[in-house]
Amino acid sequence: MLNFELYNPVNLVFGKGQTSKLSKLIPADAKVLLAYGGGSIFNNGVHAQVTDALKGYDITEFGGIEPNPRYETVMKAVEIVREKKLDFILAVGGGSVIDGVKFISAAVKFDGDPIDILQKRIRIEGNTVPFGTVLTLPATGSEMNSGSVITINSTQEKLSFGGPAVFPKFSICDPTVVASLPKRQVQNGVIDAFTHVMEQYLTYPHDAMLQDRIAEGILQTLIEIGPDVAETPADYKLASNFMWCCTMALNGLIQKGVPTDWATHMIGHELTALYEIDHARTLAIIAPNLYRVLFETKKEKLAQYGCRVWNITESDTDKAAKQAIEKTVDFFKTMGMPEKISEYTADYGNTADFIVKRFEERGWKAMGERGNITPDKVREIVEMSY
Ligand code: NZQ
Ligand code: ZN
Repeated sequence: MLNFELYNPVNLVFGKGQTSKLSKLIPADAKVLLAYGGGSIFNNGVHAQVTDALKGYDITEFGGIEPNPRYETVMKAVEIVREKKLDFILAVGGGSVIDGVKFISAAVKFDGDPIDILQKRIRIEGNTVPFGTVLTLPATGSEMNSGSVITINSTQEKLSFGGPAVFPKFSICDPTVVASLPKRQVQNGVIDAFTHVMEQYLTYPHDAMLQDRIAEGILQTLIEIGPDVAETPADYKLASNFMWCCTMALNGLIQKGVPTDWATHMIGHELTALYEIDHARTLAIIAPNLYRVLFETKKEKLAQYGCRVWNITESDTDKAAKQAIEKTVDFFKTMGMPEKISEYTADYGNTADFIVKRFEERGWKAMGERGNITPDKVREIVEMSY
């Protein structure tokens, strides 16, 4: 097992009706920015729950944080927080609102041009505005991690940043919010969480036994509940297990002491930046092709995954690994994921050139757990995805 430090200060408040605890979690004299997205919280009652729980607080609202949150949008909130001297931020939404709030939190007191946080990937160690979240969409794990992904409109870049100072102070995770989600978003959430586990698991055999078993447990649970929660999101048993799987998939736990990959995400972010394909849907396109291209170095773990998660009984490693990829593709299809970039855009011809050039400019020439995902391999993966 590799050495590790596990630091996660998020107070995760999980379950029905937990939003009513907000006033215990935010200081009574705080001047709060309440940040949200395109307005779903007005339709499903979450806005009313939050404002009821925060009666008497000094609240300024900031709406309009879009899916794949834009730097240009969140900078408007940064100005408001500075001008009004607000000292707490509450994110009410999915991964996009939470990520947007992480950026606002880091940018308000940032010494320099906040765009550098993204373009120079500055690690945020302190001097942030404290924030909490009310999660409305299980998917990203952003409610319990210190990462964020922001898109810069002017350069069409989707970039991540993070650091120990951008963990939420608390996150309220009430699974009843799942009931109002469109099917597409539930499907996205299942596949995003599934791929988060795979990025931290599907590498090579190692001796971190517990991490593997936890990862496999999350994958099996997502496989078990995924199709049903997409059909009946109001079922509390399904919704609560879905929500907890998503948090556990990317709260840092299964990543400790193990090699990780993340190349599927890096390539996927470019597809969103280019074509605005939903985050999870980019992963469903790329992941199987990445496993195919990296077959030789991933096949042993693929076979383990096939055997333990999909109950494949084949004893030949190559055959079991291939079957495991096909099982994954079938599951993605069951979850409504298209397989190809061409199913989203007719104008995909230069995608591989564009992504390879970008990665080379950024110096990303050796991705993956073994550093063997070279620009040539990225090209092959993307071209296979057309
Ligand atoms: O904006 P509103 O009106 O709220 O509508 C949202 C949005 O249109 C809607 N929605 C959210 N909760 C709802 C709801 N509709 C009805 N009922 C509810 N309860 O869903 C739509 C999508 O929301 P969004 O927040 O964009 O989705 P998601 O949570 O999947 O977040 C995606 C973003 O997170 C990033 C992605 O790259 C993408 O930008 N990620 C963040 C990560 C992190 N911070 O750790 C890791 C991930 O890998 C990912 O990269
Ligand atoms: Zn993701």
